[in-house]
Amino acid sequence: MKKKTISFDMSVYDTVNDLPVDELKLMHIAVKARKNAYAPYSNFLVGAAVLLENGEIVIGNNQENASFPAGLCAEGVAVFQAGARFPGVAIKLIAISAASENYQVDTPVAPCGICRQSISEYEMRQKSPITLLMMGEKGKVFRCESISDILPLGFDNSYL
Ligand code: THU
Repeated sequence: MKKKTISFDMSVYDTVNDLPVDELKLMHIAVKARKNAYAPYSNFLVGAAVLLENGEIVIGNNQENASFPAGLCAEGVAVFQAGARFPGVAIKLIAISAASENYQVDTPVAPCGICRQSISEYEMRQKSPITLLMMGEKGKVFRCESISDILPLGFDNSYL
């Protein structure tokens, strides 16, 4: 038996204003998208903005449902919309911002497991990494270079 360690590097910015200007702009679009989330059950609003290699930006926000499992996360809405509107165009960057109507979200919010899997499918399809920027409502921003960093030992089409 051998022990194996899986680790990854990420960047931590103290505030959103420390981001490079193009990434700051994308985060502002995610914040704006967040405001149109439909989250009457959780009161937790999430916005996502996807930057494609052709310069297009596609947004998403969470869309909840009285039948809770039918709801969709912001990141899922955004990447599926990107796949539907711009098939074959690589995703470069995804900015995520979350806020609650009940408390101040001052720590970065990372994609849920299902969204990691969804984003990972696009990374596999395009064969290039998708960078993630994660933020709450304010405070620090996390930047991961690849979705695979936060989905180690993921399941992909190589098994099928
Ligand atoms: N949510 C997202 O949209 N993205 C995430 O990464 C985490 C969770 C949504 C799903 C649900 O509408 C609400 O946040 C509370 O879980």
